Amino acid sequence: MKKKRHIRPERLLVVISAVLFVVCVAYGSFLFVDMKLHQTSNGYETVSASSFMTLGYNEDEARALSELDPELQHTITQYPVNEVNYELAVSEGMNKDNFVRCQDLLAKFSSADAHDLLTMLDKRGTEEADNFFQSDMYYIAANKDRYEKASALFYEEEYSSQAAYIRDIVEYVNCEGDLPDLEDVKDTDLSKDLLILVNKHTSYGQNQPEDLVEIKSSYGGGQIRDDVIDDLYALIDAIRSEDGLDLYVTSPYRSYDTQYDLYYSYLASYGSEWTTLHSAFPGHSEHQTGLALDVVSYPGQALSDFVGTAEAEWLAEHAHEYGFIIRYPQGEEYDTGYTYEPWHLRYVGKNTAEEIYRKGLLFDEYYAFFID
Ligand code: DAL
Ligand code: ZN
Repeated sequence: MKKKRHIRPERLLVVISAVLFVVCVAYGSFLFVDMKLHQTSNGYETVSASSFMTLGYNEDEARALSELDPELQHTITQYPVNEVNYELAVSEGMNKDNFVRCQDLLAKFSSADAHDLLTMLDKRGTEEADNFFQSDMYYIAANKDRYEKASALFYEEEYSSQAAYIRDIVEYVNCEGDLPDLEDVKDTDLSKDLLILVNKHTSYGQNQPEDLVEIKSSYGGGQIRDDVIDDLYALIDAIRSEDGLDLYVTSPYRSYDTQYDLYYSYLASYGSEWTTLHSAFPGHSEHQTGLALDVVSYPGQALSDFVGTAEAEWLAEHAHEYGFIIRYPQGEEYDTGYTYEPWHLRYVGKNTAEEIYRKGLLFDEYYAFFID
């Protein structure tokens, strides 16, 4: 009888380990090569020409698209196939962010074609680009029905031109002046950071900014977001360097609870008509975001006494140089929802503040047109 060969357990273990090692090395190498072939350093897989053709592009388009940066390719595949999409994508220098921006703007413009838009986006900040954007008067195609409905509230004969009449209607609707206050309220998009929108239709809820810092008492005290503090000091230093001018912060960050107490104390004292035009409902005040503040010419000055001061005039002309806008300008209560508040500064950063100032836009409309 043949004796059964007995394999020693340690030898078996060695054999299994060796086999596993070989398999792992082989699979690892395969993955590595595969990754090299299909992925770039930013982690997006390249999209082949044939995949673009499956999505509906013709052969030439698909070939051109297959040579783009994989991240942009990935973004393009998220949009419906159309000529504009292709034209934008292959335009020289078009990166992913610009592509997304162009697609979004095109959806809003009534008449611009992709080529015009691209050229003008490149020239953003020039007079030519400003005129181009204004020639369309910030018309947002999705608001068409609302413009038509709102037009019944405006008397064309009171305007110097038809353009001025249309412009007023477009502004009113873009700012959501046509919608009832505090109904169907949206949550603000916190990812917009310094550009978040907070108004009677968009709420900050009970959120709290995380990076509040103390304002020096010599500047008025209180708290503000860290991103604002240097420009705030620079603005106050600049106004103080002018003969006879001075400025103090009087009410920067306010918590939800503080705004709640303030709003209801105004309501008790002055009634709802006054309060609605002067104070934000809790969750709807920019003060809660840590990006807004009220200023006065001397400590203890009533806000209403700030109207017409030399400091208010200086701010209207120079606040944007430091990244701030006058959030509630004169004569815009139907659009912003609040009466004139020359003391209420909102920080949006220097580039945006400059653009808003130059275009003469309200922040609500700037947001609707350029940010949303
Ligand atoms: N006074 C402004 C509108 C506020 O309460 O935030
Ligand atoms: Zn304020």
